[in-house]
Amino acid sequence: MLRRRYSYLQAAIDFAAFLAVTWGLVLIRPSIAGIYGPGLIATIFPFLVPAILVSLLYMFRQYRFRRQDRFLRQFGGAFNVVTLGFLLIVVISFDTGAMVSSERGTLFLLLLMLLAASAVSRVITHLWLGRRPDFSLKEPVVLKSEAAGPGQKPVPLVLPASRPTSEIKRAIDGSPFDFAVLTDDDGYFAGTITDGDIIEAHLADPGRDRPISEIMNRNHPVTREDLSAGRMHQMMIERNLRFLPIVTNGGKPLRTVLLSDLDALYRRRTDPGRSRRILVIGGAGYIGSVMVRYLLKRGYSVSVLDSLMFGYNALKELDNHPAYRFFKGDSRNIQDLLTAMADVDTVVHLAAIVGDPACELDHRATIDINYEASKILVDACRHRKVQRLLFASTCSVYGASINGELLSETSPLNPVSLYAETKLRSEDALLGRAEPPLAVTIFRLATVFGFSYRPRFDLVVNTLTARAIEDGEISIFGGSQWRPNVHVLDVVRAFAATIEAPRETVDRQILNLGSETQNYRIAELGDMVKLEVPQTKIKTVDAAVDKRDYRVCFDKIEKTLNWRATVTVRDGIREIIDAYSQGKVTHYGDKIYSNLKHLQ
Ligand SMILES: NC(=O)c1ccc[n+]([C@@H]2O[C@H](COP(=O)([O-])OP(=O)(O)OC[C@H]3O[C@@H](n4cnc5c(N)ncnc54)[C@H](O)[C@@H]3O)[C@@H](O)[C@H]2O)c1
Repeated sequence: MLRRRYSYLQAAIDFAAFLAVTWGLVLIRPSIAGIYGPGLIATIFPFLVPAILVSLLYMFRQYRFRRQDRFLRQFGGAFNVVTLGFLLIVVISFDTGAMVSSERGTLFLLLLMLLAASAVSRVITHLWLGRRPDFSLKEPVVLKSEAAGPGQKPVPLVLPASRPTSEIKRAIDGSPFDFAVLTDDDGYFAGTITDGDIIEAHLADPGRDRPISEIMNRNHPVTREDLSAGRMHQMMIERNLRFLPIVTNGGKPLRTVLLSDLDALYRRRTDPGRSRRILVIGGAGYIGSVMVRYLLKRGYSVSVLDSLMFGYNALKELDNHPAYRFFKGDSRNIQDLLTAMADVDTVVHLAAIVGDPACELDHRATIDINYEASKILVDACRHRKVQRLLFASTCSVYGASINGELLSETSPLNPVSLYAETKLRSEDALLGRAEPPLAVTIFRLATVFGFSYRPRFDLVVNTLTARAIEDGEISIFGGSQWRPNVHVLDVVRAFAATIEAPRETVDRQILNLGSETQNYRIAELGDMVKLEVPQTKIKTVDAAVDKRDYRVCFDKIEKTLNWRATVTVRDGIREIIDAYSQGKVTHYGDKIYSNLKHLQ
């Protein structure tokens, strides 16, 4: 509203200035008006020129002011005014034959006066506006991404939509963001595409590399530069946007604003529950190393606390990422937790000794890390006023299905290992001790598969595939046991969806994390590996060494988060095959790939 008043004010000042100039001109050289003949036209001529000039300036958006406009920009406006005035006078003069030598001096004088009048009025307006608070919100309208300066902050991608989808996917993979803004052949905004859109399109139609124009989001909202940062923030929250492309008046992309940038400016006023910095405890592990990258790509700042049981290689390449921090420490140590939690509003707890055999090596350490540390963690969260805590538990807490029935979150629990026992106790401890404002969400993960920056070949799908590739033979122990499976990227997507969900929908929820269509018997997993690695011999051994046998229902997570697993077991098998063919794996038997062997 205020801004509109300034626009009217500037238009009125311009009109008055032009009026004074044209009246002056008519007074000095009455012949200029006289050439239009006597009567009405001669009378309205001095009003007509200023009216036309102001209308043209309005059409060319010269009355759209922003508080952050620089002095030079105001002068730029003044020059536009002068250019328009010049063109108009030249057209009038040539039309009427008034451009004769006797009039040239007057026209020159007119131009100089126009310049002075327009420049002075614009500078006055600028000085006036500069003293006033912002038009809509009181915060400074300076985006963090602009303030950081070139070279300090990565810039989201802008790519032509005519490029092949695979090329755009590669560019997104190599960028710190999980999306790109797309343009048409003339460089105008055409739409947006996210990593998830490409993956989903691929899953829906695996055989075809669909053109990006078929899968991009053509209706992604955009904004113009003159919208204040406060308004942009409001719009992004209301419309649930993580990023917002800013386009020129003509519609060419200028830059992209990230919700996380604006959150940093406005968070306290607008949504105290919204996440900004996330701590991933155990972030250097198999799931953690994928999660940290995913969260960074979604624009979060991410801290990691990890004791580096398996080294730091999985995170090394993130060292120079401006939004990433690493703390080497132990989840059992409250001081380490408090240090890593400074400035954090969400904690993802992944740190554990993972897997039944690894937990059997040292019961005391397993109980301390997998259970006792969880209690300390709640105290640290309370002290640091953390808003959300997400915990990775396991479907192993169900132990075994009776008669193969589907197990839901309310089914009886029957942990058959120390690992599962400590996870179950941790669930109870976290839910029992957490108090508002801390919201706790517990995930019971299916067995995870897929490649990672810290690969594991002690997980059933991964190990069967690796053995088929390297040994040409796999052994299936028992084979009739049911096991739910989920891809590592889907796990990470579910955690991110929880962080972004309204707190009341996820607080104190226990969610099985996986997909009903990915419940398989172990023998079926072997068959799927053989389909992808055809020369594989399958050896069936009667005795089942692993007693876990459960089919799990995942309706609750799909309804609560509107989330669905997107990667199938066969995709995961192919992913491992690709990793081998690209030389990313040495030998599945290396102890770095196995929690048990590494800790022995
Ligand atoms: N991978 C699966 O199939 C699966 C299934 C169900 C649940 N989970 C749960 O998911 C979580 C992550 O599993 P993952 O497969 O990534 O395991 P992982 O072993 O690859 O990673 C665990 C990480 O925790 C760190 N860590 C261990 N003890 C620590 C301590 N005291 N302090 C700080 N860091 C410590 C390790 O260094 C490692 O980086 C675990 O809690 C696990 O129980 C995993």
